[in-house]
Amino acid sequence: MNTIHQVQQALGNTFAVYAKVHSFHWNVTGPRFQELHSFFGELYTSLWKDIDDIAETIRIQGKEAPQNLSEILKGVVITECPTTPSASEMLSIISSDIDTLINIYISTARTAEKEENIGIEAFFGERAGKYQKILWMLKSMQ
Ligand SMILES: [Fe+2]
Repeated sequence: MNTIHQVQQALGNTFAVYAKVHSFHWNVTGPRFQELHSFFGELYTSLWKDIDDIAETIRIQGKEAPQNLSEILKGVVITECPTTPSASEMLSIISSDIDTLINIYISTARTAEKEENIGIEAFFGERAGKYQKILWMLKSMQ
């Protein structure tokens, strides 16, 4: 898979995690509501900003960003929740999804490094580090 294809995969998977975290922000219940509602709120805002930056990275490479949801979600590996999980299940699901995103970002950075695309390598290296910190927080809350 070349760099641009990997960036498209990173966009779709980030979008899928964004949508899941936003729905968890809406639907979380229980004694930890306030804490998790706020945490998911900050996380979906971060993911939303990254979606925009990733799509603009595609434009910077001279390619067109996806036009619609089916193009964005093509080949996405993040799975959807058929029903609303419990608050603790939400934390474990999002931890696993963020771990998947980190691996996608690292793999994208490595491919970019091989293709000597320093901008993309730095962009995804930085995102991997940012979500490693968030993964630590998610695991510490469980
Ligand atoms: Fe809200």
